[in-house]
Formats: sequence, structure tokens, C-alpha cells
Amino acid sequence: SSNQMWGGRFAAGPSAIMEEINASIGFDKKLYAQDIAGSIAHATMLAAQGIITEADRDQIISGLKQIESEIESGKFEFSRKLEDIHMNVESRLATLIGPAAGRLHTARSRNDQVALDFRLWVKAEMQKTEKMLTGLIAAFLDKAERHAATVMPGFTHLQTAQPVTFGHHCMAYVEMFGRDRSRVRHAIEHLDESPIGAAALAGTPYPIDRHMTAKALGFREPTRNSIDTVSDRDFALEFLSIAAICAVHLSRFAEEIVIWTTPQFGFVRLSDAFSTGSSIMPQKKNPDAAELVRAKTGRINGSLIALLTIMKGLPLAYSKDMQEDKEQVFDAAENLELALAAMTGMVADMTVNEAKMKQAAGSGYSTATDLADWLVRTVGLPFRDAHHVTGRVVALAESKGCDLADLPLEELKAIHPEITEAVYDVVTVEASVASRKSFGGTAPDEVRKQIAWWRARN
Ligand code: ARG
Repeated sequence: SSNQMWGGRFAAGPSAIMEEINASIGFDKKLYAQDIAGSIAHATMLAAQGIITEADRDQIISGLKQIESEIESGKFEFSRKLEDIHMNVESRLATLIGPAAGRLHTARSRNDQVALDFRLWVKAEMQKTEKMLTGLIAAFLDKAERHAATVMPGFTHLQTAQPVTFGHHCMAYVEMFGRDRSRVRHAIEHLDESPIGAAALAGTPYPIDRHMTAKALGFREPTRNSIDTVSDRDFALEFLSIAAICAVHLSRFAEEIVIWTTPQFGFVRLSDAFSTGSSIMPQKKNPDAAELVRAKTGRINGSLIALLTIMKGLPLAYSKDMQEDKEQVFDAAENLELALAAMTGMVADMTVNEAKMKQAAGSGYSTATDLADWLVRTVGLPFRDAHHVTGRVVALAESKGCDLADLPLEELKAIHPEITEAVYDVVTVEASVASRKSFGGTAPDEVRKQIAWWRARN
């Protein structure tokens, strides 16, 4: 038999394959609460405008509330024949309240309905993302505070570069996740316009009040162009872009955890709660959570590319292609939440091996730049000459297999006669980090200033 919602012009029902490719109820049932809230706001507005009676409105609203509780208690029977969440709800409403149900769809289409439901869902999800980012930032701030003066090697090319503090390194992630959070806030502002009332694409002849429904549903204002409204999925793309960038940030720290928890580095230890063992090698403690956070980036980036590709080249306005938007967003949201939660737990629980970090910070001639800067400051050499002199000092230390601080003064003087005893004060890792007091630099006092700045904003 043909579809009870749109079957008027059809003599026969769809083939089984048509039904299968067309149905979205398997995933869009997630939108039931938004769908019902949207319908209640719409029916309330229709009655206020004299488009339906108050009696019909009351029946519609009580029927919708009953459906919501049926869904929440698991009693609702979803039907694939009814394609999607919108028609499943409306069909059940007809069974419950009879002909009044047929008036709910006045001045509305599934095109503006789905745009509304999905926007509401993405908005709520981004509000959740914002909170989770705040939690993750707080975990990094706590670690940074504790380790504002803990010296570790800073790397470029993953080669020892200059000493930094672990607190400073943590604060780099606070900056990244802080940017993610402000992107989320901007995206919420962008999407905060109500689609309902755009109808199929052209608006409606009924005297609806879109400002009223916008307000009732918590939107700042209604959208301004009905064609754009039903064909726009920028809000989903923005969420996915933000999720992808955030996942990249998470993945970079996950990678550092994987490196730092190796016995070769041994900079940090994960708690048992965020580690796993090996079924064959009893000594192993593996950073599986970090590896999975790193891997989630793959699917989240994939979702972004999938939806960009779905939307590319779609003529205005709505096309059924757009039904494929939801699974990408749902999957990315679920996995971003998991990754944020796992990372927050790992960071909060991790312990730092300060001795290992300090030892590594001093190896690899990490204070060579400090020696060059000392030659500029004290001896008055041009930086390029100081660089050259320091290069010879490093080569000497390397040939003797010792640190810069272990080279005898006579041998240093042989390289440059104006080098004095005072040079030994600047080649320690502590002196090195303490000297980098420039704004945003790694000196512990500077790091503490940045922590205070963020505490006031988190
Ligand atoms: N299930 C559809 C979607 O997700 C709802 C909108 C369908 N509209 C239509 N004219 N077929 O996009």
C-alpha cells in the first residue's frame, strides 16, 4: 500500500529497496525530543494566530507529550515504512487524537522541520562540547600550576631544542582548547536562528509568526531567507570543522603521551585507570586510551570531508542527499565527547617524573643558545659570531662525550679568550628557563601569569 503521509498520488507502495534506501528512522529517532518541542511551539503559534483552534492545539500538545513519554519509556514502535522521525511522530499522533493531528502540518514542511530539529540538536551538542572543553582546560591548568617550574626539554623536529617548563607545555594546550571553545561559542551564535516557518522552500500563505516560534524555541531570531533555510547545513559543517580541529589538538597531545610514557622517555606515567595491559607481556602498561584518542581524529576528519562532499554541488533548495548529514554529525559528536572525556581523565590522573624530565632537559646541549646569548650580552659578540663560537664549544663537548657545564674553563678560553667562570651560571637548565621572561615565554613567573589569565576566564 502507499504511504499514509504522502501516498495520495501513488497507486502502489515502494519497493523494499526504495524503503531501505529512503528510511532515516534508524538514526534520526535521536531527534525525537527536538521534533516534539518544535511541533509544540508550531501548534502553539498556529493557535495564537487563529490558524487552528485552541481545542485542536490542546489535543495536539497532549498527544505529543504522550508520544514523548512513550518514546522515553521504550514503548514506542518505530516504523521504517514511515521513513523518518517526523512521520513516525505525526502518524502516532493521528492514532492518538484523530483528525486534529492532520492540522499540525499546516504552514510547515519536513524541510523546515528537519532543519529545525537538527539545528536544535547541534546547538545542544555544542553547548555540551563547550562545557567539556572547560573541564579539559581546567585539568591542564591544574597540571600547569603544579609544574610551572618543572624543567623539561622543549623540542623542535622532536630533537632537543631548549629547556622549557612542563607547565608552559601544558599551557600551549590550554591555548589550543581555548581557541576551540571560542570557535564553539561563535558557531552557536551563527546557528542561533530559527528555520521553522520557511516551509518547503518558499514560505507560506498562512499568517504565521516566526518570531514567536523562534523565541519559544530559544533562538535569537528567525532565519531571513526561506530558500537558504531549508538548504543550509553550515551549522553542521561548522560543528564538524570545529570537532576536526579539536580532534587534531587532542591527537597531538595523545601522540606526546604515547612518546612520553615509553621507558625510553619516561616523562609521565598514566594512572592504571587510563592504561591497559598486554595479554602476553606481563611488564606492559599501554597507553591505549591515548592511541584511541589519536585514532578518533581519523573518523572525525572523515565525517567533515563526508558532509562537505555531500553538500558540494547540491542545487538549491532541499535535496534528499541532505538526509545523510545526521549520521556524520552524530558519529563525530559521540566520538569527540569520548575523546574529550578520556583526555581529561588522562591529564588529571597523570604523574610527572620530574627527575627524568630534568635530566633529558640538560642533555643534547639544550642550553647552547644560552651560551651564545651570554657571549652577546657579556662579551659583546655579534650573535652570528657567538653562534659560531658556541658551535665550536658544542663540538668540543661532543668529542669529549660530556655536557657544556663539564668543560674545563681553560678549554673554553682556548676557543674564546673572553669566556669566564660566569658562563657556568647560564648553562644550567634552571637558569635557561628563568631567563626567558619575555611575554609568553617559559620562565616560571611568566607561565604563572598566563595561568592566572586563563583561570580568570575559565
Ligand atoms: N528525513 C528527511 C531528512 O533527514 C526529512 C526531510 C524530508 N523532506 C522531504 N521533502 N523528503 O532530510
